[in-house]
Amino acid sequence: MKGIVLAGGSGTRLHPVTRAVSKQLLPVYDKPMIYYPISVLMIAGIRDILIISTPVDLPAFERLLGDGSELGVRFSFAEQAEPNGLAEAFLIGADHVGGDSAALVLGDNIFHGQGFSTILQRAVAQVEADKGATLFGYPVVDPERYGVGEADDSGRLVSIEEKPAQPRSNRAITGLYLYDNDVVSLASQLTPSARGELEITDLNLAYMHRDQARLIDLGRGFAWLDTGTHDSLIEAGQYISVLEHRQGVRIACLEEIALREGWITPDQTLELGRAQAKSRYGEYVMDVARRAGATG
Ligand code: G1P
Repeated sequence: MKGIVLAGGSGTRLHPVTRAVSKQLLPVYDKPMIYYPISVLMIAGIRDILIISTPVDLPAFERLLGDGSELGVRFSFAEQAEPNGLAEAFLIGADHVGGDSAALVLGDNIFHGQGFSTILQRAVAQVEADKGATLFGYPVVDPERYGVGEADDSGRLVSIEEKPAQPRSNRAITGLYLYDNDVVSLASQLTPSARGELEITDLNLAYMHRDQARLIDLGRGFAWLDTGTHDSLIEAGQYISVLEHRQGVRIACLEEIALREGWITPDQTLELGRAQAKSRYGEYVMDVARRAGATG
């Protein structure tokens, strides 16, 4: 499965913070926001990842992430020239997806929860074996701000609406979507919505109408954090900080994930830590590498 991170948008709800800096580069405590969605793809086992952003912001993402070889992954980069909607990611990323299945994650979505890697790996295997789409739902108090879905007892998606005034359930559809290879042709058949965008919800509806859309519930033991406002952004940072301080672990540490996946060696990890040695993050990466047997 190929990965896509969509990190476009103008971040107007965070102005003036995002007037000169992309929202997805803002810090969520100790790392840039985009580390969190990238970590989701990596723990799903996905190593070939396309980052899509605006022409203005893309160079900053390239500077931050490089080509991924240091982490044993591949990052490539593509522009979304205009904010034409989330589903456009599959038109921009058609060559990247090629004949494979695809996972799309939005660059401002933060997930955290016990057992997430197992859930993800199973979901990826299911899409690869049985085709279709898999979405992830999360109960929220303000579903009208999101895509909202309903599933039957077997987990089949039976309704989905984008930002409904009268939500039929409290299950927000999170910004992580797994699709079979048909996603590229289905995306190319979409027509723009009233607000002129290729809506991800319309793409999901196309899968639902084929009876090929599943909805997996991320329950109350999970955190799906909002980063859309000044308050929610700082709350997300506080959540990460509290957990990291309490447990002595770092969430979404890309170097640690690459090491655990066996994509880089302990010695390579140590080098990546050394390059950031003046920060606590870098110290953590060095610690993780030494505990895994790095010498030096
Ligand atoms: C988008 C999707 C929405 C989804 C949300 C998740 O909304 O359109 O269906 O629930 O991402 O973050 P946006 O954040 O672009 O308004």
